[in-house]
Amino acid sequence: MATYPQLRLRRLRNTAPLRALVRETKLTTEDLIYPIFVTHGRDLRKEVTSMPGIYHLSLDNLLDEVAEIKKLGIPGVLLFGLPKQKDSLGSEAYEEHGIVQEAIHVIKQAIPDLLVITDVCLCQYTDHGHCGVLNGGYVDNDRTLELYSRTAISHVKAGADIIAPSGMMDGEIKAIRATLDHEGFNHTPIMAYSAKHASSFYGPFRLAASSSPQFGDRRSYQTDPANGRMALRELQADIDEGADIIMVKPAISYLDVIARARDRLDYPIAAYNVSGEYSMVKAAAENEWIHEETVVLEILTSIKRAGADIIVTYHAKQAARWLLNER
Ligand code: PBG
Repeated sequence: MATYPQLRLRRLRNTAPLRALVRETKLTTEDLIYPIFVTHGRDLRKEVTSMPGIYHLSLDNLLDEVAEIKKLGIPGVLLFGLPKQKDSLGSEAYEEHGIVQEAIHVIKQAIPDLLVITDVCLCQYTDHGHCGVLNGGYVDNDRTLELYSRTAISHVKAGADIIAPSGMMDGEIKAIRATLDHEGFNHTPIMAYSAKHASSFYGPFRLAASSSPQFGDRRSYQTDPANGRMALRELQADIDEGADIIMVKPAISYLDVIARARDRLDYPIAAYNVSGEYSMVKAAAENEWIHEETVVLEILTSIKRAGADIIVTYHAKQAARWLLNER
């Protein structure tokens, strides 16, 4: 092996064209998915305090938003709903005319080829804030599966393109796949939030969705941030149950999990660059402690370099603008 002075790694770094020629990872707008919060009411566009630049949108304001997303070359959105009312069974999650179901109709009618991905979980819809049905103080795994299946079916009937279960119940992918197939939706893919860690980085999202658990925490279902091998078993389990796309979440603190998954599993991998990761960058940028554009593009590129094919990020619109200007 050549060593210095024959070897000079700086040779390939001296000019922009040389650096471009040997660049291994190229981020594009097609890698990005943009999460959207939809809410009841009219003419609402309310900024989320904990997430600057992110809004709660009423359906009449959704059209402009998705038109812009389409124009920026972002292939899809991930929908989150804020229900009218929360109850112990999270009923609005699976109502035919729930907020997400209505939002799907609106988007698919306006822009049929924008991918609509829907988060399937109960935590935004339950008054106790847990992701499943309670039995005593415990989240009842198997009773929850039926409600996830109902939620998923209501989304695909409304026109959703991809179902994204995020509750971390055992067997949820198997149950949802079976229901979709039984109802004639065997072509609808599932993007499973497979390795979803019990992370503190979801804080700003929970403020945005008022979805914090009212007692306890999510550690009996979400995976332990300390366990990389268990995360891989979660990913494998969802593949075995029928997931088409697997996800690691959060992204930045879990790049090792993404990289190991990429090495071992030949499935499309999504990474969720979550709310806390977003809000930290926004706060630092607003203080001018970091340069937002270069930091965001560096973060997203590193997630892709680790092995993610799909990056769900609140930075998507802004990142797309930066990427398009560069051309
Ligand atoms: C619901 C869900 C959560 C997120 C997406 N879907 C959070 C949670 O477990 O409270 C978090 C997204 C984010 O922080 O950006 N199960």
